Amino acid sequence: EGVSEMTLRVNGTTRTLRAEPRVTLLDALRENLNLTGSKKGCDHGQCGACTVLVDGRRINSCLTLAVMNQGKEITTIEGLAKGEELHPMQAAFVKHDGFQCGYCTPGQIMSGVACVQEGHATTDDQVREWMSGNLCRCGAYPNITAAVREVAK
Ligand code: FES
Repeated sequence: EGVSEMTLRVNGTTRTLRAEPRVTLLDALRENLNLTGSKKGCDHGQCGACTVLVDGRRINSCLTLAVMNQGKEITTIEGLAKGEELHPMQAAFVKHDGFQCGYCTPGQIMSGVACVQEGHATTDDQVREWMSGNLCRCGAYPNITAAVREVAK
């Protein structure tokens, strides 16, 4: 009852799911498609743990409805690596210890990818500004900034 079928393009694959129209993109990814890399920190746009790319632009997936994202290209953390080969942003986070507990890391990495792609990573301050919506309670910020800057070089 109230459940409808929708189709999402996620990490290059077309996925069909049944969910209520009020379901957020984050919940659809995690609960319906079993893509649990995107994290739910706050569920109201405050922490950035749920960050994904939609048509190449980053969004908080907790703030958008799944149905509204049909026909768009959604990229989650699961879509970055090519087989065993890490995406350069993932490799840079490993190299620079850009995480401690790791909970915020998928969102940090997706934001970092967008930061570089959109040309906002030419200075540390620019990176800090761009990444300010991605909270890290462990305080790994200096290492996160270093990782993003390295990929931009
Ligand atoms: Fe979406 Fe916190 S879970 S911003």
